Amino acid sequence: MKHNFNEYINRAGTGSAKWDCFESQYPGLDARGCLPMWVADMDFKAPQAVIDALVEKAKHGVYGYPKPKGVSFDRAVQNWIYKRHGWNLEGKWIVPTAGVVPAITYAVQALTHEGEGVIIQPPVYYPFKNIIQKNKRKVVENPLKFDELTLTYQMDFEDFESKVKDPNNKLLILCNPHNPVGRVWAKEDLLRLGELCLANGVTVFADEIHSDLIFKGFKHTPLGMLDNSINQNTITAYSASKTFNLAGLQTAAIIIPNKEIRHKYREQLAINSAGSINIFGTIALEAAYNHGEEYLADLLAYVEANVDYAIAYAEKHLKGVRIIKPQGTYLVWIDFRGTGLSADEIDALIIEKAKIAVDLGRWFGKEGAGFMRFNFACHRSTLEKALAQLKAAIETI
Ligand SMILES: Cc1ncc(COP(=O)(O)O)c(C=O)c1O
Repeated sequence: MKHNFNEYINRAGTGSAKWDCFESQYPGLDARGCLPMWVADMDFKAPQAVIDALVEKAKHGVYGYPKPKGVSFDRAVQNWIYKRHGWNLEGKWIVPTAGVVPAITYAVQALTHEGEGVIIQPPVYYPFKNIIQKNKRKVVENPLKFDELTLTYQMDFEDFESKVKDPNNKLLILCNPHNPVGRVWAKEDLLRLGELCLANGVTVFADEIHSDLIFKGFKHTPLGMLDNSINQNTITAYSASKTFNLAGLQTAAIIIPNKEIRHKYREQLAINSAGSINIFGTIALEAAYNHGEEYLADLLAYVEANVDYAIAYAEKHLKGVRIIKPQGTYLVWIDFRGTGLSADEIDALIIEKAKIAVDLGRWFGKEGAGFMRFNFACHRSTLEKALAQLKAAIETI
């Protein structure tokens, strides 16, 4: 292993959202002293190539406005996406944006009007719903179906068909791989979804921010790569931020093959004065995509070992707890309903007794009540501590 994921890095007191701001996240619950395993960033250093590139720029000492996106940005994104997923992107499709969440906001503003419907598939990354509501669009939910026996989530196509056919609904925000349930959507599901959207005039925003984080035995398929018509109906979001721990640098590559949609999106960037990106973010993305393959392989091995360790531990020591093994992402969706406690009692158990700051399942939609999302991109000792605290808490039930 070349990158040392076993180095423990103390993040407390470093201005980190995850480590320094968790206490206020749980109104009504006492989260003081919790071990942070919530927000989706990692407790690992970025690749050395990224650190070196940033240090070099920092030492240059001049931080004036960067040029609009350069050829090197496009090349880095094109090469990476081709290597990872086999998708050939045209340079003109790539629109740099200061983050995926902002990009979703601009897409919602550009492609829908107030009161129109935007479809999401809960339990799902909660900013989707917030963006729709804050922009006064209608949240249209197409909940995933959970198979209690196989512990897998599926899309509910029957329900989706009824939602997609409603002429008021204009946009689908797809999460692939899916945060928080860890599904890497199969090609057949994506094709069916893409065709239904196309046939009914619903544009798709495919949030593929986690698409590098795929475990053994699974493969990510970009929706926009499936066929030419679906390609023209899809906006896809990529970023180096999850894969290489660069979230604080707020840089994303938004892929918009359709000229008309791209024009509308760019106009929306102009309306929001959001057309430029941070020079350090660009440098970091290029260094990560150009030199990060080995780091990613080591990262996946480390995180998957964490997941396997926790599953084995839970089987032995955590009665009533089912860990849903993710197919992708370092986020792990855990079912606590088998403890026999109510959803509120489960929240209190994890925050106040186990003292672990996680993302509460209900934040992702009502379907998430009784579940928790843990972030396993952490040092093994952090995971061991969390599991021991969970065990002690569960033994008090
Ligand atoms: C599905 C998904 N989209 C977007 C983001 C955030 O993207 P950004 O930091 O680029 O706004 C996250 C972070 O957790 C995420 O899980």
